[in-house]
Amino acid sequence: MTVQELNAEFGASDIHFYNDSHGLVCAELNNAGSKAVIALHGAHLMSYVPKGQRDVLWMSEKSYFAVGKPIRGGIPVCWPWFGGHPSDSGMPSHGFARLADWEVIASGKHEGATFIELALTPGLIPEKFRNGDFLVKMRVGLSSKLLAALVIENTDVKELAFSAALHSYFNISEIADITVSGLDGKTFIDTLDDTVHVQKGDVNFGAETDLVYLDTEDACIIDDPGFGRKLKVAKCGSRSTVVWNPWKDKSVRMPDFGDEEYHSMVCVETTNAETDARILAPGESHTLQVIIESETQG
Ligand code: BG6
Repeated sequence: MTVQELNAEFGASDIHFYNDSHGLVCAELNNAGSKAVIALHGAHLMSYVPKGQRDVLWMSEKSYFAVGKPIRGGIPVCWPWFGGHPSDSGMPSHGFARLADWEVIASGKHEGATFIELALTPGLIPEKFRNGDFLVKMRVGLSSKLLAALVIENTDVKELAFSAALHSYFNISEIADITVSGLDGKTFIDTLDDTVHVQKGDVNFGAETDLVYLDTEDACIIDDPGFGRKLKVAKCGSRSTVVWNPWKDKSVRMPDFGDEEYHSMVCVETTNAETDARILAPGESHTLQVIIESETQG
């Protein structure tokens, strides 16, 4: 659909479709509480600005904005696998959902929030990725909070196995100065050396960090004294959380990530990863949901 057609069918006083400066078709949601931008490419949330604040989501200046490439920053949708493909190393990292152009299927208002719903079906992905039927919907609700819900429906006659993430990149003042709470006492896998540990207290950052926390259902709080705010990351349908910062050397190795950008971002990802990967019987569905809010201090 063209931007004109999208505006005619799904536009409203608080939802506007446009082509952004990179040529991506995006929807801007703008209401009394906040403003958000979602690209149809990957159903990718690129910005969430509560009124009077700076962006809660981080975007890389080096990101690709191109057909078949993921966007670096915001909230990539990782599905139907998180990380590397379970059996085929030639497949793209974090699945194909973030590489595809999704369709808009609904928009409107629900319980005071502005919402938009996008869908991904096998017809929207390249042939080489097709392996059965599914319907995946990304529902975004915006009030003063941002809600993103990934609804996965198994519309096939066989089981659907997947891992997934709402891979949120947060905009922070300085990685060395922030803490992440909510994971105290949780077992985690340090994927850098494949060792297992138990978290003691808050998470601090002083080196490359790539951790999968297990049995996590509570909210995490990113305490950012430099920006004078706490970002609350609450969730449903997820019992694993990934905390990631590439630090310097990995940043240099990534072509779509600035060498010094690791200072200003942290990923606290709402996942179905490792032991929290899921299997849906035919007709079953699963919702992976994150609710993000920002509390300013002082
Ligand atoms: C994180 C992983 O979720 O995503 C990291 O834990 C990975 O290992 C990071 O480097 C970024 O992945 P990608 O595919 O977007 O470069």
